Amino acid sequence: MRFLVTAGPTREPIDPVRFISNRSSGKMGYAIAEAALASGHEVILISGPVHVDPPRRAKLLFVSTSDEMFDAVDRHVRACDVFVMCAAVADYKPAKVSPTKIKKHPANFSLDLIPTRDILASFSTQDRQFLVVGFAAETNDVEKNANRKLREKNLDIVVANDVSAADVGMETDENEVTIFFRDGETRKISRTQKEIIARELVNIFANARENCLTKKMS
Ligand code: PMT
Repeated sequence: MRFLVTAGPTREPIDPVRFISNRSSGKMGYAIAEAALASGHEVILISGPVHVDPPRRAKLLFVSTSDEMFDAVDRHVRACDVFVMCAAVADYKPAKVSPTKIKKHPANFSLDLIPTRDILASFSTQDRQFLVVGFAAETNDVEKNANRKLREKNLDIVVANDVSAADVGMETDENEVTIFFRDGETRKISRTQKEIIARELVNIFANARENCLTKKMS
């Protein structure tokens, strides 16, 4: 199967030296890309700026902003079988990017932020031919929020992780996830190394994609 995986944060520029971003390290997305390759799948990995060694056999596309990630997904998503949106895309970006470094003044300073385009929601159209997997990074009401994202973004699967603790989830080597399926089924993978979680997730995604195809043919 052909996997399209996104990983890492995006950077939304404020001026030539400053940006808005988040703590995503790319470890979870890179582990999924590695696990998919190890299972014999083809992988395109679209990555934000991270410091993780890239999987050697993946086709790698490095991006910085949410708009660049959108364009890279747009170019490749229709040819994939499984689309995994593990990247932590910024929800907002500055309305204007200053061409010169913004100077410091004694007064308060506010930034006008506008929503970024939602990449997942843009490509999870009804007539799609690929499986769409989103992630939900939550600090509270994990189940409720993850199920809302599953419905509102028209996903096949959402993988929820709690990112409120400093030692698990974002930036760390371990994760603990709950997987919510479109048909209401739920599965949990207890806290362990991201590599181990990634292997289970890749099996789950590949099986779900197979099942979709079988249903469409029968
Ligand atoms: O990178 P690590 O340090 O290993 O951490 C892994 C992780 C915690 C970042 C990862 O497991 C994870 O949860 N990724 C999704 C983070 C996120 O942006 O979640 P969200 O709940 O804000 O967004 C929901 C979904 O919409 C995500 O699949 C996201 O990629 C997608 N999205 C969000 C905004 C946007 N403009 N476009 C999107 O497609």
